[in-house]
Amino acid sequence: MSVQPQQSAVDGKPVVIAKNLRRVYPISKGLFHKPDQLQAVGGVSFSVQAGKTLAIVGESGCGKSTLARMITLIEAPTAGDLELGGIDVVNANAQDKHALRQKVQLVFQNPYGSLNPRKRIGQILEAPLEINTNLTAAQRAEKARAMLALVGLRPEHYDRYPHMFSGGQRQRIAIARAMILNPGIVVADEPVSALDVSIQAQILNLFMDLQDEFGTGYVFISHNLSVVEHVADEVMVMYLGAAVEVGEKRRLFAAPLHPYTRALMSATPALRKADRRERIVIHGELPSPLNPPTGCAFHKRCPLAVPRCSEEVPQLREVDGRRVACHEV
Ligand SMILES: Nc1ncnc2c1ncn2[C@@H]1O[C@H](COP(=O)(O)OP(=O)(O)O)[C@@H](O)[C@H]1O
Ligand SMILES: [Mg+2]
Repeated sequence: MSVQPQQSAVDGKPVVIAKNLRRVYPISKGLFHKPDQLQAVGGVSFSVQAGKTLAIVGESGCGKSTLARMITLIEAPTAGDLELGGIDVVNANAQDKHALRQKVQLVFQNPYGSLNPRKRIGQILEAPLEINTNLTAAQRAEKARAMLALVGLRPEHYDRYPHMFSGGQRQRIAIARAMILNPGIVVADEPVSALDVSIQAQILNLFMDLQDEFGTGYVFISHNLSVVEHVADEVMVMYLGAAVEVGEKRRLFAAPLHPYTRALMSATPALRKADRRERIVIHGELPSPLNPPTGCAFHKRCPLAVPRCSEEVPQLREVDGRRVACHEV
């Protein structure tokens, strides 16, 4: 398969630039009441370089999937700026929108629900080509077969239906479908969380091989820090809709600074190196985004909290080569 390097790989400009992305959901309280506002993502900024992986990690409910839906154009941000492959998403005209849909693809967590059970694998892979390219049927089939080989499936799989595959194989098919237009940006939302642990490493390695081949920028979402350590170049740790620590993976894993990052890491036994500080246990429940704490969203559970933390929202600032949002670091 011919591989065209993404233009941004040449000029070094990020393929994703997100500034202060925000998403608020109105929650109905009945006909005669003003709806509550649930802030799922509150002002998150990041960028992703071509050929690199930004991993987003955090507990369930911290806004990861909402962010994924905004980056993949499924939902518009309530506020903020988003640029994909050099195109401004928020102010896109019809032509821009067409171009944007080819630049970004999403791989879902559930490989059982994401493939149409009535379509053969060949048809599933060729559908994006049919919609977005002028390739002939023969060219589309050739490309689909080449993509099957690239994701480690066999030529005879082309004529089979999704139910004939294992979870790992289905995720390979979903990845092939996401990559077939050479999108430049792939968002993967917990793509191995539903798979057997024995299969997870194979799928992660496939993601990385395809990134080498195509130069794709990944936003890789996971609640599992072992997975993040395997795939990430950069890591963004989220808590209740906000980034609490962002930085290069090696630096973050070697010396996490935010108390929440440290707690997450100390809860992953494989990452709790012999020389690492004591296990940090976070107490209490994740607060509701409908009723967020004042000041730092983490202060009620934080072992370092001081009075200022309940009064003033900490902003991300540069500390030791990464950005941290904590008054006490
Ligand atoms: N369509 C929606 N309507 C209302 N609330 C939502 C919607 N989608 C997500 N939320 C809420 O936004 C918050 C973040 O959810 P989500 O992005 O799914 O988190 P994660 O993927 O990190 O588990 C949660 O409190 C969730 O209940
Ligand atoms: Mg999610």
